[in-house]
Amino acid sequence: MSLFSKILIYLISLILLLLLNIIEVESTDQKYSLETRYIEVPLDHFAATSSPKFFKLRYLINSKYHVRGGPVFVYTGNNGDISIFAQNTGFMFDIAPVFNALLVFIEHRYYGQSLPFGNASFSSPENLRYLSSTQALADFAFVIDYLTRSFYENVITHDTHPVVAFGGSYGGMLSAWLRMKYPYSVVGAISSSAPMFYFPGMTSCDLFYDKVTQVFEKFGRDQCVKTIKLGWDVIINLSKTKLGMDFISTTWKLCGRLKGPEDTETLLNWLGKIYVNIALTNYHYPTDLYTPLPAYPVKVFCDKLTTSYFNDTKGLIEHFGHALEVYTNYTGKRVCNNINSTNDDYTEFAYDYQQCTELTMPKCSTDADMFMTKPWDFEKYSMDCYKKFGVRALPPQWSQVTYGGKNLKYYSNIVFSNGMMDPYSCGGVTGNMSATVWAFNISDAPHHIDLRNSDVADNNYVLGARSFHIQAIKQWLNMA
Ligand SMILES: *[C@@H]1O[C@H](CO)[C@@H](O)[C@H](O)[C@H]1NC(C)=O
Ligand SMILES: *[C@@H]1O[C@H](CO)[C@@H](O)[C@H](O)[C@H]1NC(C)=O
Ligand SMILES: *[C@@H]1O[C@H](CO)[C@@H](O)[C@H](O)[C@H]1NC(C)=O
Ligand SMILES: *[C@@H]1O[C@H](CO)[C@@H](O)[C@H](O)[C@H]1NC(C)=O
Ligand SMILES: *[C@@H]1O[C@H](CO)[C@@H](O)[C@H](O)[C@H]1NC(C)=O
Ligand SMILES: *[C@@H]1O[C@H](CO)[C@@H](O)[C@H](O)[C@H]1NC(C)=O
Ligand SMILES: *[C@@H]1O[C@H](CO)[C@@H](O)[C@H](O)[C@H]1NC(C)=O
Repeated sequence: MSLFSKILIYLISLILLLLLNIIEVESTDQKYSLETRYIEVPLDHFAATSSPKFFKLRYLINSKYHVRGGPVFVYTGNNGDISIFAQNTGFMFDIAPVFNALLVFIEHRYYGQSLPFGNASFSSPENLRYLSSTQALADFAFVIDYLTRSFYENVITHDTHPVVAFGGSYGGMLSAWLRMKYPYSVVGAISSSAPMFYFPGMTSCDLFYDKVTQVFEKFGRDQCVKTIKLGWDVIINLSKTKLGMDFISTTWKLCGRLKGPEDTETLLNWLGKIYVNIALTNYHYPTDLYTPLPAYPVKVFCDKLTTSYFNDTKGLIEHFGHALEVYTNYTGKRVCNNINSTNDDYTEFAYDYQQCTELTMPKCSTDADMFMTKPWDFEKYSMDCYKKFGVRALPPQWSQVTYGGKNLKYYSNIVFSNGMMDPYSCGGVTGNMSATVWAFNISDAPHHIDLRNSDVADNNYVLGARSFHIQAIKQWLNMA
């Protein structure tokens, strides 16, 4: 072979490798292949009308690992596009071959493509009123019942099919509630990072921000918490003048300019949400759950904040600007930061509605944490909800009455796992509740990491949680 042809072959293989790489990079967006299906479900599962309405609910299926007789693993979709949860719940794909399982991800109504009234779903209280966890659970049971006829090859007992529910966060509450309310529908539930007890009167309102602060103290650089705490007053002081507001707007590349106290409040809330989300997703590798983030985003964020500019207001704002880009602009593609939640961000709008009606989780900040001190003010909360949605929260005892509150001893076959460095663990189930309702604490872990795909750098705490889940599922499926 001539030298020329050797070089040619080398170049061709290099190009091929590059192409393969490009293909691989692209496919990480959609790591797991899924088939999209739709099913007509009743708009209202609980009331009869003269002309019952149905709408299309989306669900995703992966049958690659399914073998005749194998169980069905169902993810109970929460607040978001179901494909995002499917792509971020690698644990189900990792264990499917072990169980020969069929994987099904069911979308929560009013999210993603499962909009009962299309674009008009959010336009009036009348159209929004079918958005509730109770309706969503009935959807899940409806879909599972339908699947019975198409997929299930065997039964565990004469009336129980081998279906296991999985869910993280609000989805974890849904998986547990599905087992609690429709026990014939699923034999058990893996409920990860579900704030089951985070309802009025059940969990102290200061614990959430306290936990976020602990995450920043543990994973961030020294003084990070102190700097963040100082930040609030600096912003408030600067926002008192037009010059100051312009400075923040420009330095932080806001899409619109701050014009007054209302915008400043929006800005402060936006900032608080970012701190919370960074803490929730403080995974040890880069992820894309709410937004693309580097590994250990809390550390990366804090590394950009030092104390050397404590007396230099503008320097502080500039450094905060760089730190914020860790969250807002990790890919470098963001043109500007929109602090206003936009009306076409349906996911946020729908979840706000759910928080206003059913999922009221009282949060307050005190001097002890890194957030701006703010009491929990139910009256204001309720009024804001009324202004935004024209509805008011359900009575405070709603969750107690509907889902048993903290009284879970009558239920069975649920694993509640919580990352001990997940802010929501403050409202999670961290103790065993009955002979078969178990808690598993995952030391150091953020929000539902146990449901993610396995990673070479996963620590023994996470591995322990996953093997606990597998043992529990085997027991429910009579395989242990
Ligand atoms: C909803 O609105 C978007 C953009 O405003 C549009 O592209 C889409 O076709 C609309 N869908 C329906 C069902 O009306
Ligand atoms: C904010 O302004 C107040 C009153 O002018 C001042 O006492 C305080 O030190 C300022 N705080 C910061 C962090 O600049
Ligand atoms: C937020 O929206 C309000 C109302 O549309 C607008 O006046 C304001 O300029 C926006 N603020 C920013 C910082 O984008
Ligand atoms: C800020 O200024 C005060 C008084 O001017 C000084 O005592 C303090 O050491 C300074 N802090 C920093 C971090 O430079
Ligand atoms: C995002 O990063 C790019 C590249 O560094 C920069 O040009 C752009 O201004 C940044 N946008 C924001 C909103 O920070
Ligand atoms: C989990 O941790 C809590 C303290 O945060 C402790 O009270 C509880 O017993 C632990 N639960 C388990 C199952 O180890
Ligand atoms: C909770 O139950 C599990 C399963 O039986 C058991 O392994 C664990 O030790 C229990 N934990 C506590 C704190 O009782």
